[in-house]
Amino acid sequence: MDKLIIEGGLPLRGRVRVSGSKNAALPILFASILLDTPVTYSNVPNLRDIHTTLKLLNILGLETSFENGQATVSPGQTLNPEAPYDLVKTMRASVLCLGPLLARLGEGRVALPGGCAIGARPVNLHLTALEKMGARFDLDSGYIAGKTSGLHGAKIVFDQVTVGGTENLLMAAALAEGETILENAAREPEVVDLANFLIACGAKITGHGTPVIKIEGVTSLHGCDYSIMSDRIEAGTYLVAAAMTGGELILDNCPCDAMDAVFSKLREMGLVIDERADGLSVRRGGELTCVDVTTMPYPGFPTDMQAQVMALMCVSSGAGTIRETIFENRFMHVSELVRMGAKIQVSSRNAFVHGVPRLTGAPVMASDLRASASLVVAGLAAHGTTEVQRIYHLDRGYEAMEVKLQSVGARIKRAKE
Ligand code: EPZ
Repeated sequence: MDKLIIEGGLPLRGRVRVSGSKNAALPILFASILLDTPVTYSNVPNLRDIHTTLKLLNILGLETSFENGQATVSPGQTLNPEAPYDLVKTMRASVLCLGPLLARLGEGRVALPGGCAIGARPVNLHLTALEKMGARFDLDSGYIAGKTSGLHGAKIVFDQVTVGGTENLLMAAALAEGETILENAAREPEVVDLANFLIACGAKITGHGTPVIKIEGVTSLHGCDYSIMSDRIEAGTYLVAAAMTGGELILDNCPCDAMDAVFSKLREMGLVIDERADGLSVRRGGELTCVDVTTMPYPGFPTDMQAQVMALMCVSSGAGTIRETIFENRFMHVSELVRMGAKIQVSSRNAFVHGVPRLTGAPVMASDLRASASLVVAGLAAHGTTEVQRIYHLDRGYEAMEVKLQSVGARIKRAKE
């Protein structure tokens, strides 16, 4: 396993290019299962989860290639209905093949994705909604076995906002018989990107980006050339890194329109964020102050930025409360930040952060994707050396993070654990 060794205390200065969005690319790649003809994707980030998804598409019978940010996916001879456990256990998003398989093949067998570090992460909302469209499910030795004689449109009201559930249903409804209405649908920009992709393939979708999405099923979908949106969470992570180190960065390809809540909260803490013709510039505008943050579904403050903003608050003045409303166990980074000298108390879904003048480097352990990102940015700001272990978590969602950071002055390197 790899680790990152970071010598902290150096201000980051320079330009960073924001990569394509992991959370847009994954559902959009799974949507290729629906297509009759080949599709070409650009701005695809080179991430572990992307390679896992392409491998799963191969197992399902599709042909794939991926090089320099370009991926192509073509239908194979036959479509295999089963997503195997040993692959699904490494990436929960594999459940996003279920809707397309049912729509295309009339059956799908997906290993029930286990929980992960941040929570149980059930898929009950996906299954209940698909049942309303005519699918039937059995739980068969750890696999969700779904069958349908043909999906039909339905009116679905999600009990709670679910990004993956909305995405699975968008894909299933695209080829279903008749109209499907999704109410209390997720409004995340990545859901909108998926809808735009499906429309480019011939789907009839309206209302994406609002809580009510309507899909008129069509009989077939064709390939197209599609560019994945940029990653708003990667971009937010670099904004935090610039502020924590007292440097100044310019981000290229930043999806500014999808980042209002993040910009607003970081500006409230004292960051100066300017949208300029040559990119997005960010620097600390003097002393940073702690604020209160509550994670919410889009357009609220994203849960995927919670760990990173906590790291920033650790070295800001005053105190603030972070309330995590989306996942039940998304404070795994707290104990590691405390080992670096942070002052944080957790009570249920609330973390109370009291800023300290500086953190000190220490060996720390990554536990999940965004927790590892928060430990890296904390290490960049800390005095001394920080070793972040088990960074395979980081490699799932950040493209060449240490290379990008080295290019703007960070003293960071990858080593074998
Ligand atoms: C997506 O996960 C993202 N992953 C997550 O990003 C992100 O944190 C999350 O949305 C929330 O924005 C991808 O897009 C690949 P949900 P997803 O369904 O779809 C509960 C990252 O770091 N729920 O919106 O799994 C669930 O347990 C990852 O990039 C049910 O109870 O999230 C959670 O508490 C982490 N039953 C809440 O809803 C269900 O059937 C939100 O989950 C589905 C979800």
